[in-house]
Parts: sequence; C-alpha cells; structure tokens
Amino acid sequence: SSSGSMMPYFNIMESRNKALSDYVTKCLNAYGVCVIDNFLGDSKGTDILDEVKDLHENGELLSGQLVNASSPKGAVRGDVITWVDGTEPGCGSINSLITSIDAIMVHCERTLGQYHVKGRSKAMVAVYPGNKTYFLRHVDNPTGDGRCVTCIYYLNKNWNSKNDGGLLRIFPEGANKVANVEPKFDRLLFFWSDRRNPHEVLPAYRTRYAITVWYYDEQERRRAVKRFKEQVGDSKSVYPPYGLTDMDDKV
Ligand code: OGA
Ligand code: MN
Repeated sequence: SSSGSMMPYFNIMESRNKALSDYVTKCLNAYGVCVIDNFLGDSKGTDILDEVKDLHENGELLSGQLVNASSPKGAVRGDVITWVDGTEPGCGSINSLITSIDAIMVHCERTLGQYHVKGRSKAMVAVYPGNKTYFLRHVDNPTGDGRCVTCIYYLNKNWNSKNDGGLLRIFPEGANKVANVEPKFDRLLFFWSDRRNPHEVLPAYRTRYAITVWYYDEQERRRAVKRFKEQVGDSKSVYPPYGLTDMDDKV
C-alpha cells in the first residue's frame, strides 16, 4: 500500500502468500489436514531435491531412531535425518523453502484455531532409504511440547504408492476415514501436530525424500520450554522436536 499519492498497487507475492494462508487456515480449521500441490515449481523443487540427495550421499544423515529417543520395542522408524536451519553450506535452496513456508505462516498468526503461531523448529530432512523402511503410527506432539502444526514438503518425482509404497496415512481423530497422502514431488502438507492426527508412513520400496518443519504455538511452547528447563536445568539436552541439537529456534 502507499500513503499520500494515489498509486494503484498490487504485490503478486504477498497476494499469493495471503491466498495460500487463507486456504491453509480454512482447511486446517475444517479438516485438520491441508495439501498444496506445485508449491514452488519444477526448477526450485529440483534444486531442493539435489541438496537433500547431496546431504544423503555425503553421509550427513543419521538414523531417526537413534537421534530421537529409541523404543525398547524395536524399530519405530527407519528413516535417516538431519536438522538444518538453512544457513549450512549447500542448503541454500532448503533455506528458500523454509522462507517460503514462513511467508505463508506469518499470515496465519492469529487465525488457526486457538493458536498463536510463533516460531518453529529447524527443518528436518528425512530420507527413507527404500528397503521397506517405515514409520509406525504415532502422534508428533502427544505431550504439549509446543508444536501445533506439522508441515511436510515432499520431493519424490513420479511417485506411485502402488509400486513404491511410502504412503503417509493419517487417522484423523473421531473420523471413520483415513487420509492417504502420496509423498509427491513439490507437494506441501499441513496437519495439526497433536493427538487429533495419529499417522504412519507405510513401508517405502524406493528412496523417499521429505523435509518437515514444525510451527509452534507461542504459549504452549513457552510453557514447554520452561517446564523442560525446570526439569533438566539447561538448554542443550534432548528436547522435542530435536534429538541432539539445542533449542535455538527462530522466532
Ligand atoms: C514424521 C512423519 C511423515 C512423512 O517424521 O514425524 O510422520 O510423510 N513423517 O514423512
Ligand atoms: Mn510424524
């Protein structure tokens, strides 16, 4: 907008972000799940995929099972992961992705249910190597750790879950239907992170790439961090959603 003089003005990027944010808000409030396809286009999506492949090939990803607290019952998840904030070398396109998602979420600040979205985790780069690797049914935030929205960007060209497996299956609470989400290239998915959305990743038979960011509810996150510091006494210990990094979240 402008002040003083009369000058017609339209900002395509901001208009796009507001429209996307409106859609995400309506969709989450109505269904608890939201999908946006062709989010960044082929060229930007491919740049991101190349960075993720490089991280994987350079051996920078570690077992998600080991990085997060492991279960006595055996493998809960078979992916390999790392956390990036986007400033790392070779992560410029991942950084742009995070910025693009942030640009949508800033407009959601006071419109998502009872939440006040503020801050987020680093980005979790996750690769399922494809030898029937899966993630058992779980809830991302069952304990009030501050995460309110899970946002996953998928990077898999020509994915067909009939042959490739790797479907994300969501079991929305109280619904007698499941939501099956193909991890398609350039697809952005949002869902509530709490007990309303238990979900699982079915065994993948092909290498499956994704990047996840969790957005925080300001109050829930503040309380969770306080609780955690009282219990543990420092900020460098294992704390959701991270395994081995500290809590220098961007706000
Ligand atoms: C997770 C998860 C789903 C997916 O990492 O918590 O549920 O589709 N991932 O990759
Ligand atoms: Mn999950």
